[in-house]
Amino acid sequence: MFVERLWLTDFRSYVRADVPMTSGVTTFIGANGQGKTNLVEAVEYLSRLSSHRVRQDLPLIRMGTEQALVRGKVRAGHGDDRSLLLEIEINAHRANRARINRAPLPRTRDLLGVLRTVVFSPNDLDIVRGDPSDRRDFLDGLVITRWPRMAGVKADYERVLRQRNALLKSLSGRSASAGAEIGATLDIWDDQLATIGAELLSARLDTLTAVMPLASDAYREIAPVNDLAGADYRSSIDLDGLWRPPESTAGAEMARETAEDGEADIQPVDRARLTERFLEALAERRRDELVRGLTLVGPHRDDIPLSIGDLPARGYASHGESWSFALALRLASFQLLRRDGIEPVLVLDDVFSELDATRRDRLADCVIGADQVLVTAAVAQDVPAQLAGARFRVGGGEVRAEETATKPQQDEPPEVRSEVRPDEPPDEPPEEPNRTDGGADHNGDQAEVSGIGDSGTPRGGRDA
Ligand SMILES: Nc1ncnc2c1ncn2[C@@H]1O[C@H](COP(=O)(O)OP(=O)(O)O)[C@@H](O)[C@H]1O
Ligand SMILES: [Mg+2]
Repeated sequence: MFVERLWLTDFRSYVRADVPMTSGVTTFIGANGQGKTNLVEAVEYLSRLSSHRVRQDLPLIRMGTEQALVRGKVRAGHGDDRSLLLEIEINAHRANRARINRAPLPRTRDLLGVLRTVVFSPNDLDIVRGDPSDRRDFLDGLVITRWPRMAGVKADYERVLRQRNALLKSLSGRSASAGAEIGATLDIWDDQLATIGAELLSARLDTLTAVMPLASDAYREIAPVNDLAGADYRSSIDLDGLWRPPESTAGAEMARETAEDGEADIQPVDRARLTERFLEALAERRRDELVRGLTLVGPHRDDIPLSIGDLPARGYASHGESWSFALALRLASFQLLRRDGIEPVLVLDDVFSELDATRRDRLADCVIGADQVLVTAAVAQDVPAQLAGARFRVGGGEVRAEETATKPQQDEPPEVRSEVRPDEPPDEPPEEPNRTDGGADHNGDQAEVSGIGDSGTPRGGRDA
């Protein structure tokens, strides 16, 4: 899939922008602070409803305005002219709203899964060097890109966690005489936390198992040495007998063979047993939890320690090794999605300036086959020659196609309005993009919008 055109209104530094894009490589060149990342961030937002730069939406709205609008026309693929018009309205003072082909969606979350992206950015170094939360975010991001309905599971988990924490806090001062009553109330919350948490945890473990062999391979390709890039999963729940880290070379080989055989991702983790273990851990820690007024068990506490060779990556890996590992994780994400039958758009935001010539070339070789690659760079020479494509200059609040570059084909723009109101009757778009009915990614009971160009539900769909 690829983004054929991107329209912005009051998004970040842009009053307005209208950027035609093609499949293949599109490069945005401009001095720092000119709005390159802002552009690709908009594409990322259409795909993930979040940005790799901020946790809050407010900075995405142009300063002094109340609403940002991002609109993208997404094509199913090269030689497949089905397309969808995606729109998201980011509001400062009320809920965001999304539309597909002008039809309002019940929840903005329903936009997830239509456009999939893998974003490489300098912040990726945090996956290797940062806090456990950075690694959890990486893994959850990949989980949600694979199975969009997991965004709902994650939101539910966070809600139950907040409520359970509030309850623990309110109970933490109470006397033991209220014990039975407290126990009964907490039991109800424990069940919910464990059921939803086990679903998130099993999705993480299955994804980690699937992605790590690919990441080890990618690391070997990028880094000049033969060290094994590995990962473990450190849980507050006992995983013994339920899951094993895909750490040894033999393990990686096995996983790869299984994957190549077209089998499902090794053995999916047994979610029922995971739920039991979760409940056992909660029972064990209940006293501590009551004292501290905090939920001490669950995927929100976990870490995914990364290693290179025999050493932990965090605190030991050099700058270059850390970079190679981060790139390898993103490349592996790309490959895993492809294996799932998804063709994501790749965004390489300002990564080439951070890499030496060898790593640049190797990265370029690995991404060149993607349906679409969006590259940003301050210095055009930093972008390897393989990635020649359409080129835009970004500066002075404008995005201009460079004359020397192949000019992307322009087609009739839909009327760009400064506002999208989902409560209005959807008007006829100038060119009626075809809705896809087949190839749906229906996981579970939620009304989910089918992605275009997907080959269907990824193996091991999370509604099993
Ligand atoms: N919400 C906003 N409103 C107005 N300007 C913004 C907003 N967010 C970021 N900017 C401006 O955008 C610029 C950064 O753009 P960015 O895309 O990160 O640059 P680069 O070309 O280096 O990638 C900064 O000058 C910043 O002040
Ligand atoms: Mg930038």
